[in-house]
Amino acid sequence: MGFVLAAAGSAVGLGNIWKFPYITGVNGGGAFVLIYLACIVLVGLPVMVAEILLGRTTQKSPVGAFKALGGGFWVVFGWLGLLAGFVILSYYSVVAGWAMHYTYLALSGQIVELGPEGVKPIFGALFASTRLNLFWHLLFMVITVAVVSGGVKKGIERWARILMPALLGLMLILLVNAFTMDGFARAFDFVFGFHAESLTAAGVLEALGHAFFTLSIGMGAMLTYGSYLDRSDDIVSSAVMISILDTAIALLACMVLFPIIFTFGMEAGSGPGLVFVSIPIAMSQMPAGSFFAFVFFALLVFAALTSAISLLEVVASYMIDEKGWSRLKASVVSGVVVAIIGVPSALSGGTHIFGDGFASVFGMNWFDSFDYLASNWLLPLGGLGISLFTAWRVDDAIRHREFLEGSRLAVFYKGWLLVLKFLVPVAIVLVFLHAIGIV
Ligand code: PHE
Repeated sequence: MGFVLAAAGSAVGLGNIWKFPYITGVNGGGAFVLIYLACIVLVGLPVMVAEILLGRTTQKSPVGAFKALGGGFWVVFGWLGLLAGFVILSYYSVVAGWAMHYTYLALSGQIVELGPEGVKPIFGALFASTRLNLFWHLLFMVITVAVVSGGVKKGIERWARILMPALLGLMLILLVNAFTMDGFARAFDFVFGFHAESLTAAGVLEALGHAFFTLSIGMGAMLTYGSYLDRSDDIVSSAVMISILDTAIALLACMVLFPIIFTFGMEAGSGPGLVFVSIPIAMSQMPAGSFFAFVFFALLVFAALTSAISLLEVVASYMIDEKGWSRLKASVVSGVVVAIIGVPSALSGGTHIFGDGFASVFGMNWFDSFDYLASNWLLPLGGLGISLFTAWRVDDAIRHREFLEGSRLAVFYKGWLLVLKFLVPVAIVLVFLHAIGIV
């Protein structure tokens, strides 16, 4: 139970409630959602099983796990995971900071006071404020480092037992509220209707990348958590449970947000501000709106924290295991590095600092470039390495024994292995080639 909670805490985060709805909006809805679901089932789930298995087998963090089971060239994928950890947490913390800012606004009653029209421009002002972004970004990093270094994790897990169901419960309440809105039918069609015409190659890459991001796979976070797992625990059922919960919350988030967006005539494709504009607008008109807004954003901060912990844990556990550092030193040093890398993302929406040329690496600002690089390329590449390694390099005797150990779903071994050997690598490579215009 401890593992499932921690792993679910890692998976469920900003990816589900902030990122998924906004990229669904940008990519035109239905067809994108379908591709995303296919990526979760056909690619994400098998890779998650592989990751947890590598961790439980070796009881090591990513670099150590690759070394222990084969070493050589494969260790590169451990390094890649570390890089992804640094990059993702650096901007993840900025977004978590936005959620903290809204928690503060709700707590001080400002959301209801301002009303729907007054609430709208808050996000733009926040996005443009270097001071606010930096302040919340650094505060969030301090909290994350404190948890990872102080062994408060057990306490966090205990809280997760209450707060995760609370998040789910609140989303259901908000769904009922959304159901009564004029925009519900349109939202339903947007999210679940198949609009093939809006799907692009970039959208397919993003769906694949997001499947990795939202399940916390491709960089060793699940591997690291798997290394704390007991031999008697059931890897496959845990992975299935985590994936279902994660997907349910992401879809719920869409069905909570889009009815608000359509009812209030907002742009579905407006980008990273989506949740931060739509939720306050809805809350500003609900009875006890300040209270609900506070609960929503506080839970979002908590969900972000349990994900951030797993990101920092990957980097810190490398330094602890491979460099022999103390937990305190490892988490403080990696936290400081992440905080610094995150500064450009925090500078008024991640645009300025090095001038336009440098800031627009992929024709995007710093913040978006980091997200694009890490989610769409580093994580799937890591997933490719993990699946090839597990399926082609790891000794079958070890792999088979580990899969069966504690498993109620042992019959899936052959199928899983086939998928990991062929389907997952081919799918990832095809999406890569398609994205760069070769296929
Ligand atoms: N899965 C987390 C989310 O959806 C983000 C994350 C990615 C956490 C990779 C750990 C590793 O918010």
